[in-house]
Amino acid sequence: MNPTVLAFETSCDETAVAVVRGTEILSNVLSSQVELHARFGGVVPEVAARAHVEAIRSLTHQALREAGVHPDDLDGIAATAGPGLIGALLVGHSFAKAIAWARRLPFVGIDHMEGHLMAPRLQFEEFRPPAVALLASGGHSQIVWVRDWGDYETLGSTIDDAAGEAFDKLARVMGLGFPGGPAIDRESEGGDPTVVSFPRALPDRPYDFSFSGLKTAVVTYLQRAQKEGSLPERKDVAAAVQEAIVDVLVDKTFRAVDDTGVGVVAGGGGVLANRRLRERFAEEADKRGITLCLPSPILCTDNGAMIGVAGAFWLSQGRITDWAETVDPAMRLP
Ligand code: KG4
Ligand code: ZN
Repeated sequence: MNPTVLAFETSCDETAVAVVRGTEILSNVLSSQVELHARFGGVVPEVAARAHVEAIRSLTHQALREAGVHPDDLDGIAATAGPGLIGALLVGHSFAKAIAWARRLPFVGIDHMEGHLMAPRLQFEEFRPPAVALLASGGHSQIVWVRDWGDYETLGSTIDDAAGEAFDKLARVMGLGFPGGPAIDRESEGGDPTVVSFPRALPDRPYDFSFSGLKTAVVTYLQRAQKEGSLPERKDVAAAVQEAIVDVLVDKTFRAVDDTGVGVVAGGGGVLANRRLRERFAEEADKRGITLCLPSPILCTDNGAMIGVAGAFWLSQGRITDWAETVDPAMRLP
């Protein structure tokens, strides 16, 4: 059974609505709040929630129209239940439940990170467990052993900042603006990452990450280089910063691939849109002759289709979320 699902994602700063049938995207629309938050240098929770309220109704009409799907043709409704900003989550979750209630459709709440984990299914039929997936976003970074759909083990995660958060903070330090990941990705183009080598943390904890020390190292380096008048070009520093983050993410993910012996490696979350990271993933997967399932950048960053594909899966398994359940800003994958 391939249920047709209307799906909502409002955990952070993108209002996203999609219609998915099984693993097929029928529509996937989004209203980004990036410009709204850029002048504050980060996402302002109350501003985000209000913007979701303003955008969600017309986006829903647009998603149904573009999919050519009438509400009567829907089999269920899905929405992100966590983790994320509580006010932002509540907008999409409540809106979705109201539609489900009114149309007597089953509703399922979805873990945002499971959405990122399932996103490759939208583009890769060969994405099947057992697999290892790197999930790296603005709030979370983890390496997940996917034994089966719904049977996950987080092998390692960050002990301080998430990888996306590291990109965002380092971009701010370098005066590159918000959001930092895409800014560093762009700035590093043509840069020489070998001008300076920043530290790679936690070499003796195989799958865990730590990025807070990197920020201190970069700040100290920039101050000293400026004082000494030996500051390299910004694109070189950006490339070196990017290389330090990417190196750790790639090393640890592929260590997990080797240790578990899986034949499939996947990824999701905004950081997986990074061009250097994608290049390195391709090289390492190629070296091992294993299957790589990295969704297009647009399906790595937050979107509604990833919630739709996870929702379709769980609804096909008979999972229905009770009306009384609400959002959980601190939700975690097992
Ligand atoms: O998954 P996502 O869209 O939203 C959250 O769930 O947080 O991830 C957003 C994060 C931000 O920290 C952003 O800077 C980072 O992903 N990001 C990138 C790139 N595009 C987005 N990081 C590195 N390179 C990119 N091209
Ligand atoms: Zn995300």
